[in-house]
Amino acid sequence: MIGRLNHVAIAVPDLVSGTKVYEQTLGANVSKPQALPEHGVTVVFVELPNTKIELLEVLGEESPIAPFIEKNPSGGIHHVCYEVEDIIVARDRMISEGARVLGDGEPKIGAHGKPVLFLHPKDFCGTLVELEQV
Ligand code: CO
Repeated sequence: MIGRLNHVAIAVPDLVSGTKVYEQTLGANVSKPQALPEHGVTVVFVELPNTKIELLEVLGEESPIAPFIEKNPSGGIHHVCYEVEDIIVARDRMISEGARVLGDGEPKIGAHGKPVLFLHPKDFCGTLVELEQV
């Protein structure tokens, strides 16, 4: 049911040095930083030929990635995002399969302006999974 890998999100302690690694060392195109206060992160997008990498930095005191950065001070892979055609159909399937949807279970508008949901890492091989309707 899931489609393409939309992005891999990497939480970083410092967006400037994270951007430098991807731009200078790895030679990728990196977007300008975008503050997303409603998600508690500032994000840049690394455009790759077949997918994207998102670098996430803590924004504000309620940032959902703050505990992750505390545990992983040099940063780390935070989640993977898979595309789905219909997020409500996908959500209902996950629930009927016994998986846990995070939050109130209702899709939110994500960093790309499209509806997203997050699934419990313990139900998905220890990985936080984001579903995005495309
Ligand atoms: Co994401």
